Amino acid sequence: MKVTETIFDDRKVINYFDADLSILSELHDPEKIVIITDKNIERLHAERLAAFKVISIHAGEKSKVQSTVDRIIDQLLEMDADKSWIIVGVGGGVITDLAGYVSAIYKRGVKLGLVPATVLAMVDAAIGGKNGVNVGIYKNMVGTTKQAAFLLFDFSFLETLPRQEWISGFAEIIKHACIKDAALFNELENSSLDNYIADKALMSALVARNVAIKTDIVVNDEFETGDRYLLNFGHTFGHPIENIYGLPHGNAISLGMVLAGRISEEINNFYSDQQERLVALLTKYELPVKLKVDHAAILQLLKKDKKRSGSDINFVLLNEIGKASVAKISLKNIEDMQNQIL
Ligand SMILES: NC(=O)c1ccc[n+]([C@@H]2O[C@H](COP(=O)([O-])OP(=O)(O)OC[C@H]3O[C@@H](n4cnc5c(N)ncnc54)[C@H](O)[C@@H]3O)[C@@H](O)[C@H]2O)c1
Repeated sequence: MKVTETIFDDRKVINYFDADLSILSELHDPEKIVIITDKNIERLHAERLAAFKVISIHAGEKSKVQSTVDRIIDQLLEMDADKSWIIVGVGGGVITDLAGYVSAIYKRGVKLGLVPATVLAMVDAAIGGKNGVNVGIYKNMVGTTKQAAFLLFDFSFLETLPRQEWISGFAEIIKHACIKDAALFNELENSSLDNYIADKALMSALVARNVAIKTDIVVNDEFETGDRYLLNFGHTFGHPIENIYGLPHGNAISLGMVLAGRISEEINNFYSDQQERLVALLTKYELPVKLKVDHAAILQLLKKDKKRSGSDINFVLLNEIGKASVAKISLKNIEDMQNQIL
């Protein structure tokens, strides 16, 4: 096991890499641990969860709503959970977002631990403290920012992860490479999804590298006033595409990155041979790069973007592979470009 620490002003997040879920009982009084997870994980990892109190919800994005939060709170009250307890989210990003949110509001805040169980949650959702729920078709409209006390990376969870979930997680890994790490982009070009699935040590190193990329960005900009915004690369179009077409998150972000790359070609001198490398890498990791989209519906949802300021959208563009920047682009400008990019 490898232990690292991240310091946020006055708070500390401890990362336990290559750890086993069972060490939870050494980190907190086992009687006062409550795990929040989903039905898939509860079924697939029943034996390992048996030592703890468990609240289990239906799997999937549909559960990431306020009514689920209310039901979890009812169960916590039934268990008599008080402020000396810890909530531990064991699951994908839906669970880490919900557990984080519940821990922030239950009795005005209890301790939080996260055990990300998907690639996406390991490299992205569990890191940085953002949590929350969707409201109607609008993603993550309500939530808080609250850092976990610890993150526990138990790679044996990945043994049961379906291939589509691996693919989805690699979209965020490719995103990190695009905005911050050209050497990682090269590594991904020279490797393959099957290599990472087969080689635990290789995957562990890849997760640690991505945790470091996201952690570095977040530590320096916890409340998204600067560099953290770059993490939205591919998401401005990705979220509307996810909502309208019901695609897995990573697949939608892949398409969003292709579109953001095209806009970068149009207005940011991003070379077209680099755009071709981006499309080739996404394709290599089995992510979609083409979709016939409904222009009007996408533009309609862009208007509701949380990050919109007036008629402009703050858009993350690539300067080159490994370097990104933010530009204000008007909705009118996007509308004018839509035939080239959409
Ligand atoms: N807070 C953040 O900073 C942040 C960042 C990125 C994404 N997110 C959120 O993360 C969510 C997507 O995360 P996700 O893709 O992990 O989704 P998810 O939690 O829905 O998990 C995907 C599927 O994999 C299953 N699963 C999870 N772990 C498994 C395992 N080890 N073995 C077998 N099956 C397993 C789940 O039951 C589910 O069916 C979205 O809601 C997104 O908004 C949050």
